[in-house]
This record gives sequence, structure tokens and C-alpha cells, in this order.
Amino acid sequence: MDARTENHAVLPEVLDRAAAGRLSRADLAFLLSLEDAGDCRRLFAAAYAVKLRHIGKNVSLRGLIEMGNVCAKNCLYCGIRKDNARVERYLLDADAVVRMAEWAWGQRYGSVVIQSGEIESAEHANLICGILRRIADFSGGELGVTLSLGEQDGETFRRWREAGAHRYLLRIETSSPRLYRELHPPDHSFARRLECLRQLRSLGYQVGTGVMCGLPGQTAGDLADDLAFFADLDIDMIGMGPYIPHPDTPLGAGLYVTDSFRARQLRLGLKMIAAARLYLRDVNIAAATALQALADNGREQGLKAGANVIMPNVTDLAFRRNYQLYAGKPCLEENADHCRGCLALRVAGVGENILWGERGDSEHYRRRTFSGRPRSETAKSPIAP
Ligand code: 5AD
Ligand code: SF4
Ligand code: FES
Repeated sequence: MDARTENHAVLPEVLDRAAAGRLSRADLAFLLSLEDAGDCRRLFAAAYAVKLRHIGKNVSLRGLIEMGNVCAKNCLYCGIRKDNARVERYLLDADAVVRMAEWAWGQRYGSVVIQSGEIESAEHANLICGILRRIADFSGGELGVTLSLGEQDGETFRRWREAGAHRYLLRIETSSPRLYRELHPPDHSFARRLECLRQLRSLGYQVGTGVMCGLPGQTAGDLADDLAFFADLDIDMIGMGPYIPHPDTPLGAGLYVTDSFRARQLRLGLKMIAAARLYLRDVNIAAATALQALADNGREQGLKAGANVIMPNVTDLAFRRNYQLYAGKPCLEENADHCRGCLALRVAGVGENILWGERGDSEHYRRRTFSGRPRSETAKSPIAP
């Protein structure tokens, strides 16, 4: 039997184990290695069935505010790394961020994500505190706020939590310390990133993490380990996407990105979503914008492979161009209004329903914090303790 025929034969057994909640690391690596289009379709359908059971045909929105591209770090793959002199740097002031959050609130987005490069300073920490208080004020504490502002000290995380942030997204990027070392300069610490995730959890945040898939030197086994890492940390939400080379970075310079490379990266991103849904079941999983950079309907494909969160960009057009982590970022010429309409059509086009005005906490988070109570009592949960 050749490998392809053998996979056809083994896949039903693995999907049976997935349905019974008994996937092994070897099973996960097997699913992530599938190449045949029909096999992948079967995997996505199985993951979608699990999503339907836990979440229904529902999509939660997070309005994405790209607050700034100033970053103290030099990750070898990222377009806004400190040493990329070709980027025009910007940092929005509090008024601009609050205005974008108000717009998202007015559009019934339910929650926003404030994202920027990594800045660790007292001034920045205070700026974020002020923004969080103003958002809590105008929305009566109703608008959900996720921060994605990189590594910080424990005191800063605590103050931001107290000022009204209730979710934090910090991608581990890869759970392999070896790969992490290869993708970052020596002064970037895997151990500190992990420690930050633990601190966030102990401060009562809903914690999200994630990885890039399809990195040079990364194997299906590494990605299976990433999924086991998410399970070990008992995380609530996952934001992960395919790696897309950026020409102005050490990792992406001089690379010619072929159509077949893009197709492979997209397929891997979708397989990773599906495997995460089968393995972790009730967490929130984002259909990353990077999927749309690889195929026009990439995010919709992500929803059909098991994702349930989309992050429409609500940043003013003037700044979007300067926030390019990877090449080919979509929505650079569209304003927030246009993206809202476009996305609503796209989501409806795949038969899914947007949860307008809902904050969209993950089922996993509700279960771990309100275990034992019937769902009807927990559905409209207040901000986490
Ligand atoms: N391709 C895909 N994702 C990238 N990120 C950074 N650079 C790239 C790239 N070249 C992701 C990282 C980071 C997130 C904000 O963007 O995972 O955590
Ligand atoms: Fe900075 Fe994040 Fe890019 Fe690394 S991935 S350079 S921390 S914005
Ligand atoms: Fe931005 Fe479609 S989501 S243009």
C-alpha cells in the first residue's frame, strides 16, 4: 500500500478516536500530515461537527484595533520587528483608540482586541489603563476587551486586569524551545513568555495563545506538541495562523513564495484549526486574517474547519498599511464600515450566524469558572472574577 492509500484506511479509525475524545499525539501528527484533498475534507467535516455540538453555527466578532507598530522585539519572521527600518512607525493616542472602540460598540461587535508591538514602559502601561477605564465607562463595562500587547511584568498585567481588560492573547509562537531559539534573537526568552501566560491565568484573565504553522524546520510532531501544550495550559482561546514570509525580515528575505507554497500553508493552517477543535473541543478558535492573505475565502474556510471567532479590522485606513506582520495582508484599502458589511456577507455565505452584541466568552472558560451550574445561568456571565 502506498502512503496515500494507507492514510485512507487509517483515517476513519483516527476520526473514531477523535469522536470518543481519545486522540493521541501520534493521531494528531497523523491528521496534521494529511495531504489528500478528500482526506482533508473528511477531517474538516469531523471538526465542524464538534464545533456544532459545542458552539452551534455561531461566530463571535472581535473588532481589531491595531494600536501601534512600535515594537522592542526583533522576531526573525515579523514585518514590524524593531530593526525593519522600512516601516513608518505609529502609536495611536487614547482618543483614537477609544473612538474606534466606540465605533465597534455602536456596531454591536460585542468585544474588541487592542493589539500592538511590544512596549514595556510605565508611560505605556498608564496609557492602556486610561483607555481601558474609558471603554468600561462608555459601555458600562459591557464591551469585552482583549489585550494583545506582548510580554509585560506581573504588576502591569494586574493593573490592566483591574482597569477592565478581561482577556489576554499572547501567542507562544511555537511550544518547542529549540524552534523558538531558532526564530528569535538570543535575548528573547521562551521561559519568560511561558511565565507571562501563567501569570495571566492566575490573575483571572481568559487566556489565549497560539502558534504559527508551517515555519521552517517545524514538523507535524512539533504542531501536535503545540496542541498538547494548549491542553496542558488549559487555555481558553486559540489564535494561530500560517506563517507567511515577509520580504523585509531575516527569515523571509529573498524567498520567492509560490502558489503551491501558499496552498500548502493554507491547508496546514486549516488542518491545525480542525485538529485543535477535535482535541480541545470547547475553546474559542479564531480564523486568523493570515488565512485570508493566502486565499480570498480563507477565513470562511477556517470557520468550516472548526473556528468560531473572526476579528474584523476596525483600525482607520490611514494606519492599516503600516501594520503588516506578513506580506499580502488583506483589507488594506477598505475601511471599517466596508469590512463590517463584507464580513457579514461572507459569514452568511457559509451558513453561519454572527452573535451580534455578545461578548462571546469561550464555552471552555464558562465551564472552568462556573462548573456545576446550568448553562442558562452562565450564558450572560459578568466579567470574570
Ligand atoms: N506570518 C504569519 N504570522 C506572523 N506573525 C508575525 N509575523 C508573522 C508572519 N510573517 C504573527 C505572530 C504574532 C502575531 C501578532 O502575528 O504569531 O504573535
Ligand atoms: Fe514584535 Fe510581536 Fe512582531 Fe515579535 S511578532 S516583532 S513581538 S510585533
Ligand atoms: Fe475587510 Fe472583507 S473583511 S474587505
